[in-house]
Amino acid sequence: MSSPDADDNQNKNMKNGDVLCPLAEFDEYDFSKLLEKPRLLNIDRQSSLDERSLNELSIALNSGLSCRATDNGLPRIYEPLEIISSPVGRRSGFNTPRSHTGFDAHPMVCEAWDALRRSLVYFRGQPVGTIAALDNSEENLNYDQVFVRDFVPSALAFLMNGEPEIVKNFILKTLRLQSWEKKIDRFQLGEGVMPASFKVLHDPVRNSETLIADFGESAIGRVAPVDSGFWWIILLRAYTKSTGDTSLAELPECQKGMRLILALCLSEGFDTFPTLLCADGCCMIDRRMGVYGYPIEIQALFFMALRCALLLLKQDNEGKEFIERIVKRLHALSYHMRSYFWLDFKQLNDIYRFKTEEYSHTAVNKFNVMPDSLPEWIFDFMPARGGYFIGNVSPARMDFRWFCLGNCIAILSSLATPEQSTAIMDLIESRWEELVGEMPLKVCYPAIETHEWRIVTGCDPKNTRWSYHNGGSWPVLLWLLTAACVKTGRPQIARRAIEIAETRLVKDQWPEYYDGKLGRYIGKQARKAQTWSVAGYLVAKMMLEDPSHLGMVSIEEDRQMKPILRRSNSWTL
Ligand code: GLC
Repeated sequence: MSSPDADDNQNKNMKNGDVLCPLAEFDEYDFSKLLEKPRLLNIDRQSSLDERSLNELSIALNSGLSCRATDNGLPRIYEPLEIISSPVGRRSGFNTPRSHTGFDAHPMVCEAWDALRRSLVYFRGQPVGTIAALDNSEENLNYDQVFVRDFVPSALAFLMNGEPEIVKNFILKTLRLQSWEKKIDRFQLGEGVMPASFKVLHDPVRNSETLIADFGESAIGRVAPVDSGFWWIILLRAYTKSTGDTSLAELPECQKGMRLILALCLSEGFDTFPTLLCADGCCMIDRRMGVYGYPIEIQALFFMALRCALLLLKQDNEGKEFIERIVKRLHALSYHMRSYFWLDFKQLNDIYRFKTEEYSHTAVNKFNVMPDSLPEWIFDFMPARGGYFIGNVSPARMDFRWFCLGNCIAILSSLATPEQSTAIMDLIESRWEELVGEMPLKVCYPAIETHEWRIVTGCDPKNTRWSYHNGGSWPVLLWLLTAACVKTGRPQIARRAIEIAETRLVKDQWPEYYDGKLGRYIGKQARKAQTWSVAGYLVAKMMLEDPSHLGMVSIEEDRQMKPILRRSNSWTL
């Protein structure tokens, strides 16, 4: 392994004065403006509106339009660098959290801040992350590491509290780790792979510190973390949005890091779908749980990361090529997800009545899903109002399980249309007992049991029914729920969930997860003092208190990306 610090000079040959973010805020896209200037465009009149808008964007890119808006009616998408860089809810200088509203913070908030600060990990005197859990009762586990995904809520808490330095350090350190040579046995991993986790090794004899990272080569199942690179891009955008400091994302090494991640997931292959094909256990659910194929968690993070990258990439020679590929992929991905992953009452009924073995282009049941494969529970679970993105769609396979992270990220990234976002919240409200119960929030629903558990998990004793990744309840998910609630204008749902969490989290010492149908029991093998449980709570509290924080983790809908094919109307009512 080369030293992470040996790579300071990568990307030397990138031009310096390039302006960040040619496409500025994708959330502010108004493709209709393009249509006002048809003379600029060569539009196929038969194509749908969303196809047109993205075609036009490619045309605009091909013609080398500048980063800044001009007065000639070119789209706003090239304009507002300020929007991405406008600081969100910044309160620099505060180390001790205070309530914006003037009321004293909940006593738990102070405890949580203390716990979060205790979890800080330092490298050569600088804070570079937070440890997964302070509970080291089981030494051979890897909870003494800084996990990329676990650090995200910590990072958001620090950003919200006006302490961006640690986030910057983390982004730069993990970037260095990315440039390591990564090997499992004799096989070399892709250059862009980001680590799942890293730790600082202290050598007391030589009085030195080194970083050591895991890219999947030590992880259970030897799976690379597909989510890490996506979270890294999402965090870079959160940092930029929160601080107004565009210089970090503009660094040649950050631009290169982003492009390397994108190169991994935008590469051409044998795919027939725009979704990303993954191995089981490549994300938050990092053990075999039947999430191989096209898991919703990864698809939603992929979509979000692509949109963030679009905001952050420079329009230099290398960046421009990626921007074009991203735009095309986003277009196809949103269509695919909104059409085939979306499930509501009407869609369920349609699947129930599906014909099978349809061959031609006119097939309705495109993936040849057998109605007999519909699980019994789904008929009761599906409310009359509401819907969600299901867990996975691949040939002859629909995984109907509800996954929390993917659905919340779908709302935040606007992969879900506003109607679908509302429907997801409706479903959470009407299935409160199942999804929230006595501790927010189920990682997925329902649990798999007996024979199915044996086949799907390979008899995993950690993932027994209603435990851990198999229907366990994870307090960290509170921040995602809260952000989704704030975005959809339903803060009361988050408030209710936070109040439930507040009755137990401190008393139980911030467990990693809870078990049981209602999430009533502290998890079988849950760590205590789990940092992302602490940080998730803090972020949820701060976001409710000051909804302007939402901007860090949310991107508005591109109105032109609506699905052409609406197979269900229940969420449009
Ligand atoms: C478990 C979780 C994973 C998390 C890690 C550290 O392995 O499944 O999502 O990143 O613990 O907390």
